[in-house]
Amino acid sequence: MLRAIYPGSFDPVTYGHMDIIERSHNIVDELIVGVLCNKAKMPLFSVEERVKMLKEVTKDLNKIRIIPFDGLLVDFAAKMKADLIIRGLRAITDFEYELQMSQTNHKLEPNVETMFLTTSIEYSYLSSTTVREIAAFGGDLSQFVPEAVAVELRKKMSTKGECNK
Ligand code: PNS
Repeated sequence: MLRAIYPGSFDPVTYGHMDIIERSHNIVDELIVGVLCNKAKMPLFSVEERVKMLKEVTKDLNKIRIIPFDGLLVDFAAKMKADLIIRGLRAITDFEYELQMSQTNHKLEPNVETMFLTTSIEYSYLSSTTVREIAAFGGDLSQFVPEAVAVELRKKMSTKGECNK
């Protein structure tokens, strides 16, 4: 029984995240998507909204749970009895941060391993930050996020007012 956690901010979930979710879902027995309640990062979407969108776009997967978490990822992994942390690597620019994070997590909790999946080439440029920026300027989101997420982004941007302040 291999249980993995795919952690992130998912603000919002993109096709790049879904690529990693679907591919890791094929490998493990249970996949827990851990959604960080990152108050410090001032997310665009509340954790409840991010969880709801993730549940909607992964509704066809049968070995998945979407769970919010706060605090250290290794503590969440221990609580969930997870064997693995999964992270996506898009480009060399991700590597330094991901290496530091996986080594720190390994120091904190030697029993939890991090496994990296390289993002499929068609999504290697994609990030939630880019998606939020495109949405803020009313751009076409269809190549980047599922329609259910695009709807929520358009709603959110329409309530942010002039200059999106
Ligand atoms: O989608 P993101 O923002 O790149 O995800 C980052 C995340 C949530 C994986 C990372 O910030 C995290 O694990 N935060 C929890 C706090 C923690 O455990 N920090 C120590 C690891 S260096």
